[in-house]
Amino acid sequence: MKILGVETSCDETSAAVIDGNQVLANVISSQEIHNQFGGVVPELASRAHIRLIIPIVEKALEQADLTLDGIDGFAVTYGPGLVGALLVGLNFVKGLALATGKPFIGVNHMEGHIYGNILSQEQIQFPIVFLIVSGGHTQLVLMEDHLKYRIIGQTRDDAVGEAFDKGAKLLGLGYPGGPLIDRLAREGDDSYYRFPRAMLKDNPFDFSYSGLKTALLVFLQKLSEKEKEEHLKDICASYQKAAVEPLIIKTINAAKEFGARQVAIAGGVAANSLLRTWLKQACDENGFAFYLPEFAYCTDNAAMIARAGLEYLRRGQKSPLTLNAYPALKL
Ligand code: KG4
Ligand code: ZN
Repeated sequence: MKILGVETSCDETSAAVIDGNQVLANVISSQEIHNQFGGVVPELASRAHIRLIIPIVEKALEQADLTLDGIDGFAVTYGPGLVGALLVGLNFVKGLALATGKPFIGVNHMEGHIYGNILSQEQIQFPIVFLIVSGGHTQLVLMEDHLKYRIIGQTRDDAVGEAFDKGAKLLGLGYPGGPLIDRLAREGDDSYYRFPRAMLKDNPFDFSYSGLKTALLVFLQKLSEKEKEEHLKDICASYQKAAVEPLIIKTINAAKEFGARQVAIAGGVAANSLLRTWLKQACDENGFAFYLPEFAYCTDNAAMIARAGLEYLRRGQKSPLTLNAYPALKL
């Protein structure tokens, strides 16, 4: 089955064509206009999606060497995300479905991230514990089969990606902050300062990241400009370690508790180099198989949406043309 996927939930306009697990095209346009504001400006995002959606879809079809006649069905993100941004992709795909008479399916963006990992692996096995870490989400999900999700833990305040982005802002770095902190941390000393880790005894699988950002703010207020400059890499390394450590401990504990011998990560923060190497090592020590997504499918892209959509469409499930966008859609 050949699926055309579209993703416009935030600041990436993306279209992809897949044929089963094979990606024929995955075109992503990241909107750089937001960099100067230190975060995504929703109205600017919607307007950029409107401008980009047709050329990006055309480019994806061209790269896949197909026309709409060769596509069997469509998949599009319908939440969670920015409502104006979601509506652009959703309505565009509804138009394609109406014009071609082919089915379309609305996909949850987080489910897309899960299938972004599955896209890179032919042999995924269940049950599997997924750690989903992005700019808006930090969740532990137990999957017992395709399309079956059980949330076993989540953040009570900020997402871990938000902790990276807000931390980077406090440090005077750019946006998005995750890749910048990641890069600087590689040359820093992670024992320079011990930032707090919230372990939450009442639900050992929940997360909390608002305290970490505040701890950084308080710590920076005590430093001189010279100290901040000299120790920037050490601060990044210490902060990153405090952000990543609870993810490792809780993911491994969840796999043990729920008898899963498979562990996987998904979402933008899955591109983090410390998280990737540390979790791989912890899985090896515990004899768990570890599924690491390819970098290209970690951050927002339409191939992951198409791959999740394929699971529904191949089971004959489709969405009605009345489907709405849901900014706070849950998994
Ligand atoms: O999944 P994603 O592209 O968009 C959302 O759905 O949120 O994730 C974006 C998040 C941002 O917070 C960004 O800072 C973070 O992923 N991120 C990283 C890295 N690359 C992206 N965080 C830590 N280390 C990275 N290398
Ligand atoms: Zn995302």
